[in-house]
Amino acid sequence: MDPQALESEALSAIEASASPAELDDARVRYLGRKSELKQALREVRDRETGMVLNAVRERLEAAAGARETELRTAELEAVFTGPSVDVTLPGERPNRGHLHLITQIRREVEDIFLGLGYEVYDGDEVATVFENFDALTTEPGHPSRSSSDTFYLDESTVLRTHTSPDQIRVMQSRTPPIYMVSLGRVYRRDTPDATHSPTFNQVESLVVDRHITLADLKGTVLHFSRALFGEERDVRMRTSYFPFTEPSVEFDVSCFLCDGAGCAVCKHSGWIEMGGAGVVDPDVFVNVGYDPEEVSGFAFGLGLERIAMLRHGLPDLRLFWENDLRVLGQF
Ligand code: DAH
Repeated sequence: MDPQALESEALSAIEASASPAELDDARVRYLGRKSELKQALREVRDRETGMVLNAVRERLEAAAGARETELRTAELEAVFTGPSVDVTLPGERPNRGHLHLITQIRREVEDIFLGLGYEVYDGDEVATVFENFDALTTEPGHPSRSSSDTFYLDESTVLRTHTSPDQIRVMQSRTPPIYMVSLGRVYRRDTPDATHSPTFNQVESLVVDRHITLADLKGTVLHFSRALFGEERDVRMRTSYFPFTEPSVEFDVSCFLCDGAGCAVCKHSGWIEMGGAGVVDPDVFVNVGYDPEEVSGFAFGLGLERIAMLRHGLPDLRLFWENDLRVLGQF
């Protein structure tokens, strides 16, 4: 091996390397463990040759070190002088999610009742037939019990068809006084169309205390309706029938669009149907082990989707679960 020839070959390779990666290659080839130079150094037998070869190695290492500094500096130079990012340009707006309209209304309703000191009860979507029907004194032959109306999980278990079974659960797990609302999903075997859906959301309220009357119900529903639709609203009650209340009523709110004059939203009646309500039937109290001579109460229930549809003039129940972002993004 000719040390001089090797040195000049290695020096040109080091000088010619155009990137840190190329320089690394040259280093491995001429200074690496398997390089000709290292091989020769291991085999050296006399002092003279050893000194020559070591001097070559030192000069090559110095050259490689110097070239590395040059290359790194050039790299930095390129970053500083090359095309740069204009950080003042407006960026792309990231898509931010938000709560579903029904969740917003659910929280709003919860807030109204929390403000009255009510408990927000977290019910279960799966209910026993006892909770969903029997305890609420729904007659054995009532059509709502049939398997063409109700999703049965087994003979004695259903997907709740309304939030009213939460009344039973609360009464079984608490002693009066009870002031509660329960909100959530309910299920019915309906074919979806603009006004029917196999699943939707309800709010249920139950109050049990001493000397509760229909007047307490009306005052509460009035407060609730005004909180939702404005302080000028009025409420009226019409007699109705539900198995679990006696007397039973349906309550309407004066139309928030025409203020009672008559328009398309209230079907020219001046009133908008809101929900069902009544004074808790004494038989329901007996079914949960309460003494109807000691306590009385009221209950009401209504749909959350209906509130959203009225407020925003939405025409179709399916909009709430089709989850088209072009629709949901507007709320
Ligand atoms: N559960 C009834 C329904 O789904 C609504 C209802 C009516 C709830 C009267 C009540 C009530 O609490 O007192 O149609």
